Amino acid sequence: MVDPRFSILSEDFAAAPHRYFARLREQSPVHYEPELDSYFLSRHRDVRRVLTDHDAFTTETLQVRAEPVMRGPVLAQMTGAEHTAKRKIVVRGFTGPALQDQIRVIRANAAELVAPFLPLGRLDLVNDFGKPFAVRVTLDVLGLDRDDWRQVAAWLGGVGEFITSIVLTPDRRRHCLDCAEQLEAYLVPIIEQRRRHPGADLISRLCTAEFDGITMSTRDITALVVNILVAAVEPADKTLALLFKHLIDHPEQLARVRTDPTLLPAAIAETLRYTPPVQLVPRQAEQEAVFAGTVVPAGATVFCMIGAANRDPDAFTAPDTFDIHRPDLGTARSFTAAAQHLAFGAGLHQCPGAAFARAEIETVAALLLPLLDDVRHSPGFGYRETGLYTRGPVSLSLDFSPSGTARRLG
Ligand code: HEM
Repeated sequence: MVDPRFSILSEDFAAAPHRYFARLREQSPVHYEPELDSYFLSRHRDVRRVLTDHDAFTTETLQVRAEPVMRGPVLAQMTGAEHTAKRKIVVRGFTGPALQDQIRVIRANAAELVAPFLPLGRLDLVNDFGKPFAVRVTLDVLGLDRDDWRQVAAWLGGVGEFITSIVLTPDRRRHCLDCAEQLEAYLVPIIEQRRRHPGADLISRLCTAEFDGITMSTRDITALVVNILVAAVEPADKTLALLFKHLIDHPEQLARVRTDPTLLPAAIAETLRYTPPVQLVPRQAEQEAVFAGTVVPAGATVFCMIGAANRDPDAFTAPDTFDIHRPDLGTARSFTAAAQHLAFGAGLHQCPGAAFARAEIETVAALLLPLLDDVRHSPGFGYRETGLYTRGPVSLSLDFSPSGTARRLG
């Protein structure tokens, strides 16, 4: 049995959640957390059911959890025609011809950021590279000034903390709301200027887009831009670092990817399955629901445990093994609505940035791998992950021998 005193809020769980996944799925698949008055679901089939039964499980919780810092209703809260139309605008902004231009932006940012580290033979892939990279690329794509990335990253830190904190002290709450207000004050004049003089960037497209004859208000666009910034930045830098960590820890798979870069999408998909950066997705039960014989009452908050679901043996063979060749993942569908892993969610609210995320991580990994020969963990480096809601490495210090290409670039 799961120890009745076991808590998802405990330090032991925070240190290594994956150690508890099997026990939760087998012995407490509907885990009630009294301090949060919430239910945590860990089985793949239950998580998929919650994410795809939109009438029974709504995104109502986001009104409290996200709206105050997003400065307006976010995409995930919307339903019906409004959701479909705004989602289409976002998807269009990150796929097709737009994506081709964005790949150039991704490559340019990556090359510029890595260059100073090449002669040093050492790089912290999270703090030196991944974090600035993910913010700068998203700013570029939105049409914001990438030189503002430090300031925007600091504001996003507060916004993200508000949404993903399980428990928030009044002081931290105030800090997070301040960050959100400052981010809004930064965005509103830019949005209004783009409304008057639209360009080719995503913010301009949001200003001129129409659905049912109605254009979006400045408040709608502000919320959508904050939504995209928060949703795009954090999971991308975490996935990149986790991809490198898993490949370095599995040298034979790293060697295969080096000789055959067409394996990169499979390596990215397996990284997302094995260690999804978004670990929890909340929903509210509209009516009483029963999972594995346990009743979840109407109105209850339900957390989908994506990490546990992605390691359910009912969905994946040998789920605790990182294997880029696993036949049950299906790389081609891993970045679509038909994905078997749940790292991008499922159903109506499934991540509209999945194709962009794949292109972003594939492009940057394909650029970095040939530059970093013999890439390995730096001597004495202690690996540590943090986060219950979103989770990833605190840092990832890598040593490498600059390759011939790197010496020419450096
Ligand atoms: C590896 C990278 C990424 C991961 C793992 C990821 C994961 C997720 C997940 C799990 C959700 C579903 C939340 C829910 O059901 O409530 C989601 C939604 C969302 N994601 Fe992503 N995401 C990633 C990258 C991106 C990028 C690059 C963008 C920007 C284009 C983006 C934009 C969004 C938006 C706007 C939503 C809300 C969609 C809606 O409610 O209709 N994401 N993402």
